[in-house]
Amino acid sequence: MLLPTRDIAGPAANWYRIAEPLLSDARVELWLYCPTTAEPMISGNKWMKLQYHIKLIQQQQYRGLVTFGGAFSNHLAACAASARLHDINAIAYVRADSIDRQNPTLQYCLAKGMTLIAIDRQSYRQRQQADFLQMLADRHPGYLIIPEGGSSALGARGIAGLNLTDTPAGRADVIVTATASGGTLAGLIASGKQQSAVGSHNLQILGLAVVNDPSLPAKVAALLTEEAEDSVNWRIVATAVDQRYAKCPAEHVEFCCHFALTHDVALEPVYTGRALYKLYQMIAAGEIAPGSRVSFFHTGGLQGLAGLHYRQLISQQQYQILSAAAVG
Ligand SMILES: Cc1ncc(COP(=O)(O)O)c(C=O)c1O
Repeated sequence: MLLPTRDIAGPAANWYRIAEPLLSDARVELWLYCPTTAEPMISGNKWMKLQYHIKLIQQQQYRGLVTFGGAFSNHLAACAASARLHDINAIAYVRADSIDRQNPTLQYCLAKGMTLIAIDRQSYRQRQQADFLQMLADRHPGYLIIPEGGSSALGARGIAGLNLTDTPAGRADVIVTATASGGTLAGLIASGKQQSAVGSHNLQILGLAVVNDPSLPAKVAALLTEEAEDSVNWRIVATAVDQRYAKCPAEHVEFCCHFALTHDVALEPVYTGRALYKLYQMIAAGEIAPGSRVSFFHTGGLQGLAGLHYRQLISQQQYQILSAAAVG
């Protein structure tokens, strides 16, 4: 007998060509790759990063999942949505002094049935250490621990199933993504390796780091096979000199608003807007070779806009402009 399923379809891959004088002057063709699902909280890179974790929980009959993130984390919102969809218990350690029930991200997680536990910054810093992970395993026996951002080997494997190389106009020369915990970039490198093997194609993969984390290249490399690490042309570039995560310089917010009004595509200034702003700077500086076709991964994260508005990091008017765009 077939059991009723509450699963949602995997992401639909939507491509959008961006036309701008800056791009035509630099002879760069830019495509946005926007995966969307019926559940907006699991769009962008989230569905792919979580899918194998969810399968493992179901197959190995884990009692649930335990994960961690910041108080406005897209990953926490996506985990809460996926866990509810698949009837999985979910616990999250939130980097915060207390659980603010007015915070839109945490409110959403609670509404989806996720248990939230506040954890101070100092303890949170130890989240990758063996002792900390053992403490979690002891406290939550039978739960699968999903690392920050879903950036495990399973998360990278989910992303590796994507094909950002074949744009509707032909093969991309450069694939670009915002990078924070590294799993998305690692997955794109693995996918790029498969795509390069298909043809003799000199593909470059560019991770635009939105965090100030000197260990990021090592984290990405740890998620790759040695062969993929060596055979694919990939690099990480910082998005700003002052790289404090989640600080929203006015120019990033203004860029996102301008982009929404011009192209009807929603970005947020912490990940996609910040990365695309940097890509535009690189194009203007001639750092992307003329004649290149670039494929930019729209990794979602639009739930974060409500949190930026809540903290008054974007104005009501900016929030409305960014929320009104049709695509994203
Ligand atoms: C919207 C968005 N874009 C990009 C990223 C970066 O992905 P990663 O953490 O895998 O580097 C994240 C974090 O997961 C994100 O939420």
